[in-house]
Amino acid sequence: METIGAVAVLGGTGSEGGGVALRLAVAGHKVIIGSRDAAKAEARAAEINARVGGGSVSGADLKGAAAAGEIVVLTVPFTAQAGTLEQVKAELEGKILVDATVPLVPPKVSRVQLPAGGSAVAAMQEKLGPGVRVVAAFQNVSAHNLDDLDHEVDCDVLIFGDDGAACDTVVSLVGTMGLRGIYGGPVCNSAAAEALTSVLIAINRRYKLAGSGIRITGMDRPAEPRG
Ligand SMILES: NC(=O)c1ccc[n+]([C@@H]2O[C@H](COP(=O)([O-])OP(=O)(O)OC[C@H]3O[C@@H](n4cnc5c(N)ncnc54)[C@H](OP(=O)(O)O)[C@@H]3O)[C@@H](O)[C@H]2O)c1
Repeated sequence: METIGAVAVLGGTGSEGGGVALRLAVAGHKVIIGSRDAAKAEARAAEINARVGGGSVSGADLKGAAAAGEIVVLTVPFTAQAGTLEQVKAELEGKILVDATVPLVPPKVSRVQLPAGGSAVAAMQEKLGPGVRVVAAFQNVSAHNLDDLDHEVDCDVLIFGDDGAACDTVVSLVGTMGLRGIYGGPVCNSAAAEALTSVLIAINRRYKLAGSGIRITGMDRPAEPRG
């Protein structure tokens, strides 16, 4: 199993990335929040440090954060996914990129509208090439639940990728955050999680929920590394 070093969260100033950064900080990881505006990232880092009562979170611009992170998490809107990755492509080489992107098309975000080719994350693996170890994760985990430290996050995290060792590392990383990560197949299968987010949004709206999630049944044990 690979050791887990510093984790950069590009878009960590926003809802989902802020929640991921917060849970990573609670778990004791060194976290670098990346933003188009370094001052905005530093402010968010200070906010999380104050909440957690530590100093393990720092802020930087996108390139600086991607360079400092051994694992890089991407949490930006679909429309910003390709442009953000283009800016940090050189810094990602050889690293695990955890992509939480869901290709929502406002205003009808509760309707499944996948991009041509099927999956937003698989498209990035194709674009970045095998030198970047792309893993899809967190797409069905609501920002609201990540931010609510008074409660455990009551859902599983589906993990997809073509690099098995990278997927195992992300399963471990997610485990340190108090979540169960479950390997769900190659990166093309990310399409299922991307589609499922719109289903969860429809459920949230119909039943007035802050953040529904998914649980895999028939697996009453922690996820193990793939054999
Ligand atoms: N929110 C959820 O509950 C949730 C759940 C699962 C998955 N996701 C997925 O996670 C991703 C982030 O969602 P979010 O709700 O956290 O989004 P968000 O808060 O709207 O945006 C996250 C960050 O992305 C950057 N950003 C926003 N617009 C941009 C643009 N036009 N160009 C470049 N950067 C831009 C901003 O960072 P800077 O201004 O600091 O650069 C922003 O703080 C999305 O793909 C979403 O589908 C979200």
